[in-house]
Amino acid sequence: MARDVKSIVSKMTLEEKASLCSGASFWDTKPVERVGVPSVMVSDGPHGLRKMNKDGTTLSTVCFPAACATASSFDTELLEEMGDALGQQCRAQDVSILLGPAMNIKRSPLCGRNFEYISEDPYLSGKIAAAHIRGVQKWNVGTSVKHFAANNQEYFRMSVSSEMDERTLREIYLSGFEIAVKESKPKTIMASYNQINGVYSTENKKLLTDILRNEWGFDGYVMTDWGAVADRAKGIAAGLDLEMPASGGVNDAKIVEAVKAGKLDEKLLDKAVENMLNVLFDYVDNPHDDAVFDNERDHKKAVQIESECAVLLENNGILPLKKDAKVLYVGEYAKVPRFQGGGSSHIHCCKITSALDVAQEKNRSVEYCKGFPADRDLTDEKEIKAAVEKAKAADVVVVFAGLPDVIESEGFDRKNMDLPACQNKLISEILKVNKNVVVVLHNGAPVVLPWRKETGAILEMYLGGQGVGEATDMLLYGEANPCGHLAETFPLSVEDTPCYLSFGGDGITTKYDEGIYVGYRYYEKKKIPVAYAFGYGLSYTTFEISNLVLSSSELKEGGTVTATVDVKNTGNVAGKEVVQFYVADKTKTFGRPVKELKGFKKIYLEPGETKKVSVELDSRSLKYYEVRINDWYAKTGEYEICVGNSSDNIHAVAKLNYVSSRYLPLEIKGDTTFSALLEDPRTAPVFKAYLAEHDKGSDDTVVGDMGAAAKEMAEAMFQGFPLKSLFSFGMGTREEAEKLIADLKKAVE
Ligand code: BGC
Repeated sequence: MARDVKSIVSKMTLEEKASLCSGASFWDTKPVERVGVPSVMVSDGPHGLRKMNKDGTTLSTVCFPAACATASSFDTELLEEMGDALGQQCRAQDVSILLGPAMNIKRSPLCGRNFEYISEDPYLSGKIAAAHIRGVQKWNVGTSVKHFAANNQEYFRMSVSSEMDERTLREIYLSGFEIAVKESKPKTIMASYNQINGVYSTENKKLLTDILRNEWGFDGYVMTDWGAVADRAKGIAAGLDLEMPASGGVNDAKIVEAVKAGKLDEKLLDKAVENMLNVLFDYVDNPHDDAVFDNERDHKKAVQIESECAVLLENNGILPLKKDAKVLYVGEYAKVPRFQGGGSSHIHCCKITSALDVAQEKNRSVEYCKGFPADRDLTDEKEIKAAVEKAKAADVVVVFAGLPDVIESEGFDRKNMDLPACQNKLISEILKVNKNVVVVLHNGAPVVLPWRKETGAILEMYLGGQGVGEATDMLLYGEANPCGHLAETFPLSVEDTPCYLSFGGDGITTKYDEGIYVGYRYYEKKKIPVAYAFGYGLSYTTFEISNLVLSSSELKEGGTVTATVDVKNTGNVAGKEVVQFYVADKTKTFGRPVKELKGFKKIYLEPGETKKVSVELDSRSLKYYEVRINDWYAKTGEYEICVGNSSDNIHAVAKLNYVSSRYLPLEIKGDTTFSALLEDPRTAPVFKAYLAEHDKGSDDTVVGDMGAAAKEMAEAMFQGFPLKSLFSFGMGTREEAEKLIADLKKAVE
């Protein structure tokens, strides 16, 4: 039975309540033994359990693939499985909250922490995060969705103000969090370091209370990122519950002081403590004695998960490798893979097997040559020469390339999108003597691949966790079939990226001038060619998507429509396809992306097999955030549902007519335009009738004897006329115009 938390809080002194609002140490909350509140532990997260042991060492455990990889699985069941494994580990290790998932939008490929984030797309971010949360929380272990919000760069992340308009904030930077909160009810949220439009997230009432709790129904507790507190009492009033880590009692005293001075309502403090205790007791009172900490079991899971995440970017048929091929592995990552990022998510992993170790274990015909180091950009001509010599004699050369920690990590952003120069040089030199080159990538974010069209294949492993070596071997030799698709665009150059001119800002503010045009929303709108589009990924088999059918050709506000397609495996091996459903607004509404992802499903098919795949779309799938009504809105009219296996490979399109039951506010005044009146279903009949009566001479007066093109021009001009110009163009008398205005006002009342 749930405890009566309110009654526990009512028995606590002001000082005890305030003391609960900050940590006891780096990872523990404070107890209040007098009323039976124990201390509990929280730990990073997100893709492994980074628990500090009592003796100060770090727990040796399994490092699962980072979010850059798991997002590419487009597989919510897989993420739930990974979450479940993590939740079980936490339970067995007595950790009450796993800090993650991290789900900030990948605004620029340069953000140093992109490896930990999910996608450039909020819908995909939300769905993947929601699945991760569901998995962990099955064990009554909480998650802490982070970093809320708009923490999209590392440069001055602790103070910079992310500046953007309301629509951009809601549509791009908050809607992923919204999906996660509404769908999976995370127990906690981590407020980010940065400011949003000049207000720190940790004291942002609009963010933490108005939106998170009141609009989305969040009922857990909000904690700070580590050391993100600005004004503590203001934080409580804004909806910030727990400060982490410890503040040495300083900030607790400030809360007490503020209450005593009448500057902070004690009820708000009570609410913060209640929020925390509800989550804490949910953990304490639901013990799950069946939880087993088993690194061997979870290592196998990490291998399997990574094999479902890797993205095959290029393949001319060279992959899978033939068993008897003489293969040369080049690049130190073959021996020392880069499989996780630096910073707070760094796991003390229990074991790591490299692709070379596996090849040796399996007696593969593989030789190894270092070529370049794993930890820095260092061109060593001798190493390159040795690799080129060996490459001449190999049937296939597999280059293990990637980014070292010094280039990509939490704490700083990347300076460019290049791979280390030593690696590019080595690959180009090898290509001169052997065209059968496969490149395996170990990186947390898109890189520029100057030689990409000359190689035989490119396999993007991302930061694949400690199972990366085994998974790479399975994929290279066809024991597993690649089925990841990109959760982010690979642009051709950093200069092509949406926020190239503003990313990072001046250290004080960072202006999100590109607005909602992030990732594929930008490249598609500007028709900028990219290396690999959002949603792209190859397989060792091929698929056909056809017969798109909608359950209805009309969708009414509040209703749903089901889109169904047939997916066929048209190749010779079993495989998985990622079927993606995008929505395109065809109503000519200003400022909408070409299309947006609103549904996806991953499906397994035997060779020759066909299955039906369906997703349900609702009216929100069609909507954008309309600031004039502070709500989500879609105009009545035509939309398209586009289905494909990549944002740039749409196989089927169906039309959908949407009927909205909402109107945008329309003020009838002198400068209300003709087009606004003609578009609004309330005023259109009134105004059309008036024009029919009074606009008889417009062809003569405005157009005269001009040709068709000029007529079109005049009509376009006419759309922009304000009401007050009725008069100037002789469309009715003053009395008639006044009556029209009165009728129009009535129509919009
Ligand atoms: C990171 C968080 C992390 C916390 C605790 C912070 O610096 O931004 O993501 O959970 O440290 O390690």
